[in-house]
Amino acid sequence: MVRAARTVRRAVVTGGAGFLGSHLCEQLLARDVEVVCLDNFLTGSPQNVVHLVEHPGFRLVRCDVTDFVHVPGPVDLVLHFASPASPLDYLRMPIETLKVGSLGTLHTLGLAREKGARYVLASTSEVYGDPLRHPQDEEYWGNVNPVGPRGVYDEAKRFSEALTTAYRTSKGTDTGIVRIFNTYGPRMRADDGRAIPAFVGQALEGRPLTVAGDGSQTRSICYVDDTVRGILAMAFSTEAGPVNIGNPDELSMLRLAQWIVELTGSTSEIGFVDLPVDDPKVRRPDTTRAERLLGWRPTVPSEEGLRRTVDWFAGRLQAAAAQAG
Ligand SMILES: NC(=O)c1ccc[n+]([C@@H]2O[C@H](COP(=O)([O-])OP(=O)(O)OC[C@H]3O[C@@H](n4cnc5c(N)ncnc54)[C@H](O)[C@@H]3O)[C@@H](O)[C@H]2O)c1
Repeated sequence: MVRAARTVRRAVVTGGAGFLGSHLCEQLLARDVEVVCLDNFLTGSPQNVVHLVEHPGFRLVRCDVTDFVHVPGPVDLVLHFASPASPLDYLRMPIETLKVGSLGTLHTLGLAREKGARYVLASTSEVYGDPLRHPQDEEYWGNVNPVGPRGVYDEAKRFSEALTTAYRTSKGTDTGIVRIFNTYGPRMRADDGRAIPAFVGQALEGRPLTVAGDGSQTRSICYVDDTVRGILAMAFSTEAGPVNIGNPDELSMLRLAQWIVELTGSTSEIGFVDLPVDDPKVRRPDTTRAERLLGWRPTVPSEEGLRRTVDWFAGRLQAAAAQAG
């Protein structure tokens, strides 16, 4: 049973010029919600929201949420999505990642409290670390190495969950936590190091696909439209969470690479590179809670989502080639 929350007229999206953030801004505007997008373009780009800047309900503000956050006027909803999210990004920017998970979360919770707004934190399946329970449900506490290289991201998110919970319990802020599992789709950066954009780029350019380890490690991949629908279901509810948002469709990295070769019609070979330190061996969400509380479940089959993603990347490559030549 989904309880209806307040009417949302104006939302703040931090990290709104990133992959997920830009889709959220788009979908909020489509629901007649005004959007203030705060981003410092650390890993995102104004290019991701360029199609929205003419919209009368959209404002893009360059701002680092670890400095301070000030938004004049009423705000009904704060979505805190600012953070480097790919291993390549957060390993390159460990301090920025810890700061946006701690100070950024503190400042955005302060904004939500000041405005009496609903607050939704973008947490991650990485809070489960290299899980000892499979699939992962929200009751599982996780298996994270705080001093391993991935600790900068995983612990930043674990801290931000604790801080969000403290604002709910001690200050009465209306907060919700979504634990997002691997999401893919248009507007990912080809060079962000995540498996799907890397494999698609390699396959389209006829280069060998770089599968980590022996490729037997699994991930569960969710198409961006499904993830965004789940996040907004959480945003428009009064649920505290945490709620897993992801697609239980689990597959090995080797299978994913083979599939992308098939879908692109590529002649690329599959090569193997070293497995990153503390790489999770398995990952699959238990989405029972999301179904029960939010009435949400993913609907886009992986084949369809991968096809759309391949088409988008192919279009970008063609446009770049046309510009160059
Ligand atoms: N994409 C996924 O599969 C996934 C999975 C789990 C969790 N998440 C979470 O969702 C959020 C968005 O991820 P994404 O994949 O869109 O990543 P992304 O890198 O595309 O977007 C993050 C955005 O945050 C901005 N940002 C970073 N630090 C900032 C700061 N200090 N101030 C203002 N803006 C800042 C970046 O410039 C970027 O636009 C992140 O919090 C991430 O942890 C994503």
